[in-house]
Amino acid sequence: MDAIRFYSRTGNTEKLANLLGEQLHVKAESIDSPIDEPVDRLFLGGGVYNMSADKHLKAYAADLDPTKVKEVILFGTSGSVFTIERQLTKVLKKRKIPVADEHLFLHGLMPKMGNINGHQKQEIIDFAKGAVTQ
Ligand SMILES: Cc1cc2nc3c(=O)[nH]c(=O)nc-3n(C[C@H](O)[C@H](O)[C@H](O)COP(=O)(O)O)c2cc1C
Repeated sequence: MDAIRFYSRTGNTEKLANLLGEQLHVKAESIDSPIDEPVDRLFLGGGVYNMSADKHLKAYAADLDPTKVKEVILFGTSGSVFTIERQLTKVLKKRKIPVADEHLFLHGLMPKMGNINGHQKQEIIDFAKGAVTQ
């Protein structure tokens, strides 16, 4: 079973999470929504703010239950080339939750704009296809 959770301040990562959810047939929800059932894969996403992942997302990752989450697949958005990968991986490793090598990070997204272009939409579709066949 898969789950999708995101932290999104201005809506861009939420939009990405929803597009990914459509492809994977999984409902994307914010990190405020608890994970009740154990999941094989948690797709966990967030934006970059002042060169950092948001502290709410980091706290969420630090608090994840390793008996409920077998593996995390990271995704996210940013204006530039930054991602949440390093910070979140560090937190999750400490929690003994494996992080997949595959991830989906979209760049060039201006706050509130949701400016995901056609090429990036294709990237989401291709990423989801890879995730389905895993
Ligand atoms: C307060 C703030 C700070 C930001 N700082 C950065 C940054 O340091 N590096 C970057 O690449 N993008 C930065 N951005 C751009 C966001 O990462 C980008 O717009 C992202 O898609 C926002 O995600 P969200 O809409 O899910 O919150 C910043 C955006 C905001 C609102």
